[in-house]
Amino acid sequence: MLLEVTGLTKHFGGVAAAKEVTFNVGEGEIIALIGPNGAGKTTVFNLITGLLEPDQGSVVFQGKALNGLKPHRIAAAGITRTFQNLQLFGKMSVLENVMTGAYLKGNTGFLQAIARWPASIGEEKRIKQEALGLLSEVGLEEQASLPAATLPFGQQRLLDIARSMASNPQLTLLDEPAAGLNSAETKVLAEYLKYLRSRGKSMVLVEHDMETVMEVADRVMVLNFGMAIAMGTPSEIQADPEVIKAYLGEDEQVA
Ligand SMILES: Nc1ncnc2c1ncn2[C@@H]1O[C@H](COP(=O)(O)OP(=O)(O)OP(=O)(O)O)[C@@H](O)[C@H]1O
Ligand SMILES: [Mg+2]
Repeated sequence: MLLEVTGLTKHFGGVAAAKEVTFNVGEGEIIALIGPNGAGKTTVFNLITGLLEPDQGSVVFQGKALNGLKPHRIAAAGITRTFQNLQLFGKMSVLENVMTGAYLKGNTGFLQAIARWPASIGEEKRIKQEALGLLSEVGLEEQASLPAATLPFGQQRLLDIARSMASNPQLTLLDEPAAGLNSAETKVLAEYLKYLRSRGKSMVLVEHDMETVMEVADRVMVLNFGMAIAMGTPSEIQADPEVIKAYLGEDEQVA
């Protein structure tokens, strides 16, 4: 298994934001993490990426325990993420935004590279070429020199994911990538995620848009009040009465 999450638990005061959360991610798999607002989805991401320390539990990535590692070490180990709110550098160009993602893994530090110190020029060329390649995968090559903030929102989301791919991660955690997208943009996003999987990338996808979840996820885990209440294929989850009750309200059907 690429990622093994075992018994992950985190309390905020009296609230158990994550309680004994256990799941794994295999190579080339897309696991969706769904659940109502406040269920603990982002908390699980924060625990995996080292932004939060768990009260209990472990995260093992490629056979190595990540517990206690700082976020930049975890990123360098091969786990990247996107945030629920876009974190693009709006005034920087589309290309530069992707390039910032590459420095997670390079020998040259981010600040050093931004300052364009001589030692880093060769590496910067290589990073630029790779960034252009990533932009072409999301159809943004022609927008490379535009400020990121000028792109339509759907393209900004794609850019954000392309940036998360710039360090060539094995695993990427995506926090609601379809939020705010229209249906055409959502379809482009889903195609991109499936393309990334076809290239061997693994992902954990937190997403409220059920159509996207059902279309791209290999397996789905449902969280409610910090606890996993179901795990299965999209169709199993769709038919699970516990899920329908807890997640959607008793009268609704999963879309
Ligand atoms: N840093 C924090 N300090 C205190 N409480 C927090 C913190 N982060 C999250 N919580 C609480 O933990 C619970 C889980 O929050 P979390 O953000 O993980 O939910 P979520 O499933 O991502 O929800 P959403 O779908 O709205 O993004 C909530 O009750 C939230 O208020
Ligand atoms: Mg969240």
